[in-house]
Amino acid sequence: MSATRFSESVSGSIRDGVLVVIIANAPVNATSAHVRQGLVKALDHASAVGTVIGVVITGAGRTFVGGADIREFGKPPVEPTLPEVMQRIENCSKPVVASVNGAALGGGCEIALACHGRVAGEAASFGLPEVKLGIVPGAGGTQRLPRLIGTVAAIDLIGSGRTVRPDEAIKLGLVDGVAADHLAAAVGLVHQLAGQSQRRTGLLDVPIAELAAVEAASKKVLSRSRGQSAPAEAVRLVRLASERTFRDGLAEERATFLRLRDSNEAAALRHVFFAERQAGKVDKLEGIAPRRIETVGIVGTGLMGAGIAVAALTAGYRVVGIEQTEDAATKGRERIAGILDKAVQSGRLAATVRDGCLARLAVAANIGELAAADFVIEAVFDDLAVKTELFQRLDGIVRPDAILATNTSYLNPDEIAAATAHPGRVVGLHFFSPANIMRLVEVVDCKATAPDVLASALAFARKLGKLPVVSGVTEGFIGNRIFSAYRREAEFMVEDGAAPEEVDAALEAYGFPMGIFTVYDMAGLEIAWARRKRQAATRDPNARYVEIADKLCEAGRFGRKTGKGWYDYASGEKAVDPEVTALIAAARAAKDISPRRFTVDEIVDRLLRAMADEGAALLTEGIAARSSDIDLVMINGYGFPAHKGGPMFAAETHKDITP
Ligand code: 3HC
Repeated sequence: MSATRFSESVSGSIRDGVLVVIIANAPVNATSAHVRQGLVKALDHASAVGTVIGVVITGAGRTFVGGADIREFGKPPVEPTLPEVMQRIENCSKPVVASVNGAALGGGCEIALACHGRVAGEAASFGLPEVKLGIVPGAGGTQRLPRLIGTVAAIDLIGSGRTVRPDEAIKLGLVDGVAADHLAAAVGLVHQLAGQSQRRTGLLDVPIAELAAVEAASKKVLSRSRGQSAPAEAVRLVRLASERTFRDGLAEERATFLRLRDSNEAAALRHVFFAERQAGKVDKLEGIAPRRIETVGIVGTGLMGAGIAVAALTAGYRVVGIEQTEDAATKGRERIAGILDKAVQSGRLAATVRDGCLARLAVAANIGELAAADFVIEAVFDDLAVKTELFQRLDGIVRPDAILATNTSYLNPDEIAAATAHPGRVVGLHFFSPANIMRLVEVVDCKATAPDVLASALAFARKLGKLPVVSGVTEGFIGNRIFSAYRREAEFMVEDGAAPEEVDAALEAYGFPMGIFTVYDMAGLEIAWARRKRQAATRDPNARYVEIADKLCEAGRFGRKTGKGWYDYASGEKAVDPEVTALIAAARAAKDISPRRFTVDEIVDRLLRAMADEGAALLTEGIAARSSDIDLVMINGYGFPAHKGGPMFAAETHKDITP
């Protein structure tokens, strides 16, 4: 076997007369310039050497090819471009087969599509996730995929950016075979194809699809892509594949890709991509190993506790839930089982996985059962005395090396920790409800938290599939502090003349799934009211305070569940309520405020500025480590549109905030 190096990242060796080309460009084998150059040289070599019957392309390590090198975006282009490489693969006179060892994403999937055959290993996955980066596939994906799997399936995959595993890929016709030894199978396929005329994807006809099915698939993508342009462009391009020649389709795809790549939307989503990979990285934890966690204790199996239990169970942990009475324990177990059942019914979870989860679950009324736990999370009533007393009790029950996490939203976890015998083992874990669904977890690094405890909490959150963001201790941590500033500003504008429905409409037009007053009504107004009452004595008397929310609560308007809040829900639908309009008018009159009009832009600018200013304060105070963490919190916990990059990104780039 002879080995040839085609570039710093591409090498090849001969196996049974086939040139096996390996792309080794850590960490994810992205198609950087030297990968593209190496691939072209490898194809040249295969064409020139008479004894080589064909080519297999595979990736080194866990990934096939993770796509174009996102870090190259915005830099001057270097030849050959990725579309040129695809043409070279597709036009090669000898068979070229992709041996897909791991993730084949974006440009990586496009390489596989351009090959004459595709064999997937068991760890392979395929996807064109470009829309998640605010772009469309730019190297033939929108034109080749529909030719292979049909327009409807291609709209679904490219429009959603979702990834498929080998079993689905084979059903779709995306791959020719799945094999544990994918390399041997790919070499075998080259032998089968050698000497025949090759099946060039770009020359295939797009299978005829029913217009109604195409329309339905398009509609589904568009309905989920509020305010973003990439998904709509992706759908347009896929549909173009059956309307125009391959060549025209490729040209239109490339032009669209280049235009979107330079858009604000793509810059924002790239920022989010790298922000997610930065999140939870803490310099001081370099080299610190997390503790081993196998059994998770959860005190309180209400809505929050049950959600956390489901997240831990589906991640493979053993879970011990604790309630105060046998009856509550039975109900807690039923609640957890109910969430798992729902996931099975909706197809998100296999029934066998649910059964495995239930076998690892125990819910008891005896707190002594927590002696077995490595990591205990409390999800009890958010009251300092309740939580402190619980942690003091746990001191006498859990092992000395067990970790105690508090899921408080607003209390000071330093105070809870200080009341325990070993404050170093206390950490905050602020989940968002429903905890089995919401990705964000604020991991609160308390004054005394030991480094390996913080490292363990981060590793635990990651194993749950969550996005952990580290926060220092402050009232409401990162998210609720910014949310409070944002809510305050919204109420100032309402007091000054904006209607709540105008504020909501402006936010929804910006890309929030729901305006702030609608969110309020969904969540219920009474908890924030109780907090405001508690804080009333210590509030700065000179600070501006808007009483409208208090007045709504005094009138029994606690939000959707009581049929009325900022809006009225008597008809089942949200409606503007003249009673609220009158109540707001009276509040303005009481302060001698003559209402003025607000434009949509002014509303959005003021709210963004309020968030960004509070974020800047969090950075100055050292509560947040980096502004991108703040963006992630607001995107994943509070509905800030990802395609705007988060409030800090919007402020830094001055794209959305007028000076
Ligand atoms: N370009 C540049 N860097 C990339 C990258 C890419 N396409 N994909 C990942 N990286 C970097 C990450 O930033 C991270 O860097 P860091 O260590 O400095 O933080 C490192 O690679 C490892 O990434 P992950 O932590 O995400 O590694 P995982 O093993 O968890 O996941 C993966 C691997 C599934 C490949 C995941 O990284 C991923 O989804 N990558 C992005 C895939 C993608 O969106 N591809 C499309 C790109 S656009 C394109 O191809 C356009 C084309 O159509 C022309």
